[in-house]
Amino acid sequence: MTLHLLDLDDLGAAEISQILNQAESFAPDGKLPSSQDDQLSDITVVNLFFEGSTRTRTTFELAAERLSATLINFDVATSSTSKGETLRDTLLTLRASSADIFVLRHGYSGAPRFVAEKVVPQAGLINAGDGSHAHPTQALLDLLTIRQLKGRCDNLTVAIVGDLLHSRVARSLIHGLHAMGTADIRACAPLTLLPDGLAQRGVKVCHRLEDAVRDADVVIALRLQRERMQTHRLPSTDEYFRHWGLTEQKLAGAKADAIVMHPGPINRGQDISSDLADGRRSAILRQIANGVAVRMAVLVRIAEAVRQQRSGSG
Ligand code: NCD
Repeated sequence: MTLHLLDLDDLGAAEISQILNQAESFAPDGKLPSSQDDQLSDITVVNLFFEGSTRTRTTFELAAERLSATLINFDVATSSTSKGETLRDTLLTLRASSADIFVLRHGYSGAPRFVAEKVVPQAGLINAGDGSHAHPTQALLDLLTIRQLKGRCDNLTVAIVGDLLHSRVARSLIHGLHAMGTADIRACAPLTLLPDGLAQRGVKVCHRLEDAVRDADVVIALRLQRERMQTHRLPSTDEYFRHWGLTEQKLAGAKADAIVMHPGPINRGQDISSDLADGRRSAILRQIANGVAVRMAVLVRIAEAVRQQRSGSG
């Protein structure tokens, strides 16, 4: 049992399956129970988001509340961060006021690892997205969604389309899919938005969308992450949507029962058409519900490590 979830690369297939099974027990078929559970009544969780978030933040909040944790939603904008306090001092302050588990999102890749190893090593820490690096709980909820809707994660063809270069979601998910035995993982994006090393990681790079989606079981769209682009990487948004934006028509070659996923926030008419996002293939809202269940499972797991640490056996 470990105190930290920094990256999905730290977990193997058995641990990933355990988390998915526990999440499934909280939300069978993606339906969350309305009743309260008191498993975390002895735990204080601090949500610490140094970057914007709707889904991740609110689903961590709901997960902590459903498990009866004491929850602090730290407001970065009105905190002492705006008076020049460092990340290190903010964390030490919160730890001294009895925080047990930090849920940290930060624009700098590696910030959660720095905090976990150098600042508050005795506290629980969950990476809720760091720079372009990792987003482990998003990958877990994506795997759960695929497993529920396709009945398995192995023996599938999964296409990931869009801004892979800046995507922490894609990086973590590719690891998760490999770990769970997904046979065929494909990436598709303009050359300016493809990271190096995909082939070495067992991902097939497709330069045309129709090649990427051919016979796919799952197609995942990613947002253009303009806030991370230092130079112009695209001629225009319209041009991008014409070639790379997902539409029902462009999915003609995918399996008839192919599902479409998106980590959100979606940009309609840029990375996905409205018809597709709201249509029969879309699993986007299921992903959100699974986000609560997966985060409940991760919190329960980290809380066990916190209790071991408290009792001196961690
Ligand atoms: C993603 C993120 O923040 O990395 N969204 C999410 O957490 N649901 C993807 C994105 O911002 O495009």
